[in-house]
Amino acid sequence: MAMRLSRSIVGEAEAEAVRRVIVEDGYLGIGAEVKRFEQELASYLGVNPELVCTANTGTSALTLAVDAVAPGHFGQGPRGSILVPSLTFVASFQACTACGVTPIACEVLPETGTIDLADCEKRLAKDTFAIMPVHYASNPWQLDEVYAFAARHGLRVVEDAAHAFGCRHDGKRIGSFGDVACFSFDGIKNITSGEGGLVVCQDRETARIAQDARLLSVEGDTRARFAGERTWDPDVVRQGWRFHMSNIMAAVGRVQLSRLEPEFIPARKRLCTLYREELEGVAGVAFLKESPRDDIVHHIQPLRVLNGRMPAVRQHLLDAGIPVGVHYKPNHLLSYFKIEGEAPFPQTEGLFAELMTLPLHPGLSDADVREVCAKIKEALS
Ligand SMILES: Cc1ncc(COP(=O)(O)O)c(C=O)c1O
Repeated sequence: MAMRLSRSIVGEAEAEAVRRVIVEDGYLGIGAEVKRFEQELASYLGVNPELVCTANTGTSALTLAVDAVAPGHFGQGPRGSILVPSLTFVASFQACTACGVTPIACEVLPETGTIDLADCEKRLAKDTFAIMPVHYASNPWQLDEVYAFAARHGLRVVEDAAHAFGCRHDGKRIGSFGDVACFSFDGIKNITSGEGGLVVCQDRETARIAQDARLLSVEGDTRARFAGERTWDPDVVRQGWRFHMSNIMAAVGRVQLSRLEPEFIPARKRLCTLYREELEGVAGVAFLKESPRDDIVHHIQPLRVLNGRMPAVRQHLLDAGIPVGVHYKPNHLLSYFKIEGEAPFPQTEGLFAELMTLPLHPGLSDADVREVCAKIKEALS
């Protein structure tokens, strides 16, 4: 079979879980299965189940989180701005504009691809109310410094932890501390629920707003639906969305969560260690810097190819039938998010010109990784 850049690792257990929901339960919307998934996610992260809110995508999770922490209400005047690294999936930016918030593109650090706080300091605006660090390639780099920066400027923190489910900082799971963290469970992430996402808050008020907003802001509807009921005389005081997860998605997600620690994490770690061993000492390539304080479960495996040689190396791999990804075209280069007269982004554009993403998923073999590395060395020789 042709090598894949990424893929879902699902099988009989997930299929059986979906069958159970369809045949035995018969209620496919948001109900008991989603409630159980939320309880299991909360228990995995070590947080109160009332502080978690599943969603139908990671983008929805981010939208709910940004909406919940932004001043004012969507559709009722300006809502301020949020600092976001330019090198991220466009979802981080779209989640902001979707609820009336302006994303301010910021530089990333050349060695990690994560938000550059010195640059944030310069771009901070009067109406900035939050910062969104993106754990690029699952790396929660300088998370303490991000929180210190936020505290200094009175900002909320919405972590885009789409890549970082299962990662730890100083021994604590990402999402188990801080302010608000958002995860993605799309088909290729560290775990999947088909599509899916998760908001984890550290305060009840933010969680309550997000939980209501995912069900059209019908107050208390999550509680009712988890009890198999409906809210027949509700009130609605703000914009909401149909962003909830279904019982079918949750059934898949529950099986995936049970496979994360015994199966997916060891596989991803083994493959990433092998990439490092195989490319150790090879001139002209570099992995992104990581801190020993962070325990990283890589969702993607980017590699820097130095000295302007990335396009040639990338092409060599593609010619050999090895898929190579691009994560990501910086958002300040996208027409919709371009701002005239904005300060330049030399670090972000410099890193973007060097980055290529190597195949990574638990179904990859050691031989696959060795083949990719051999082709990289061949291209550089
Ligand atoms: C950095 C980042 N943020 C947000 C998202 C959005 O997640 P989803 O695809 O589940 O909507 C992704 C997904 O790829 C991502 O990589």
